[in-house]
Amino acid sequence: MSPYAHIAGWGMYAPARVLSNQDLEHMVDTTDEWIRSRTGIVERRIAGEKESTATMAVEAARRALARAHLSPRQLDAIIVATISPDHLTPATACLVQAALGADKAAAFDVSAGCSGFIYALSLAQMGITAGEWHSVLIIGAETLSRFVNWEDRNTCVLFGDGAGALVLTASDQPGGVLACVLGADGSGADLLVIPAGGSRMPASPATLEQHAHTIHMDGRAVFRFATHILPEAVEQVMRKAGLPLTAIDMVIPHQANMRIIEAARKKLRLPEEAFFVNLYRYGNTSAASIPIALCEVADHGLINDGSLVVLVGFGAGLTWGAAAVRWGVALPQPARPWWQRALYIARLAFGRLPAFLRRLLYRLWQALPSRRDEE
Ligand code: COA
Repeated sequence: MSPYAHIAGWGMYAPARVLSNQDLEHMVDTTDEWIRSRTGIVERRIAGEKESTATMAVEAARRALARAHLSPRQLDAIIVATISPDHLTPATACLVQAALGADKAAAFDVSAGCSGFIYALSLAQMGITAGEWHSVLIIGAETLSRFVNWEDRNTCVLFGDGAGALVLTASDQPGGVLACVLGADGSGADLLVIPAGGSRMPASPATLEQHAHTIHMDGRAVFRFATHILPEAVEQVMRKAGLPLTAIDMVIPHQANMRIIEAARKKLRLPEEAFFVNLYRYGNTSAASIPIALCEVADHGLINDGSLVVLVGFGAGLTWGAAAVRWGVALPQPARPWWQRALYIARLAFGRLPAFLRRLLYRLWQALPSRRDEE
């Protein structure tokens, strides 16, 4: 019998700096009233100078691993969902892997817009149920503040930074991720796009001047797509899980716009308390929004063992995805002696040390006079 993919740990990280709607009133031609009434957003978090998608992902990951009582060395794979990676290459997941010291894990990124976290979750579930992976770390992390045009009121008021992570592990106990559905419609690729910086439009003084390295969006078209696809994806995943809509205890939608969420809720005829919303505090954090929301739901005890949770995302691509999860962290944790626990904490704290030492040794080796003579 194939194993089930259970959620064993969760963790989030939000940068300290808060940018409120009032702050934005001093930056572009907008008002707190406009932003609140059209989106529901009140404030968002902005990454500090020394923070990046990878650093925030690592913080969220450490918290998720600690909750799962799992050492980074036990991870088989790390998947980072992001549209704001540290670099075009290597993958942000590789930077996370080195920082954690997860030296046995495969590491790669997923780029599927704001649906990226659901894509990552689905891949993790497939790897676990296929028997290929035992423990997988998935992270949604974004530093969108570095990709918005702070002079464009149509977009800069919407986005924020942050990261959320889940640890999934294999178990024989039924439950965990019950079903996932994924979809895409590339004909809408131009509706939400960062035009420059890739192979089609490489960076140049002209692209910089045109703000072509920032998010360009047809807000109305994306809005129409989102209000249609969100309830559709929830229905699809519940059908696949073989459960009625009435079995849902909590929907955790991508946190883009209060009006999109409200329209979907009404279409699905679900009560207000069945939809979790925290976008008023974080704005749209793209691939990070669903895991951040899930962390808050779990930490505030809004779901219990056995709760049926539906995660649903939509975004650039266009893409969408939903997952039905039977919540319940019923995984047995082996009792460990004090020295093993101390070792575990040290490994989490100093995980980046092995990668650092390897790089140092490599540089010293390169600098050896005999090596230079060879070259
Ligand atoms: N402050 C004040 N006015 C603003 C503004 C802002 N920050 N942003 C846009 N406006 C103006 C527009 O310029 C427009 O003015 P005009 O009528 O003179 O041209 C007016 O407000 C209405 O614009 P419109 O686009 O119709 O507003 P809207 O009600 O559709 O709301 C969005 C705009 C972006 C909030 C909405 O379309 C949306 O949420 N779309 C989905 C975006 C999204 O979720 N993207 C991420 C997907 S993952």
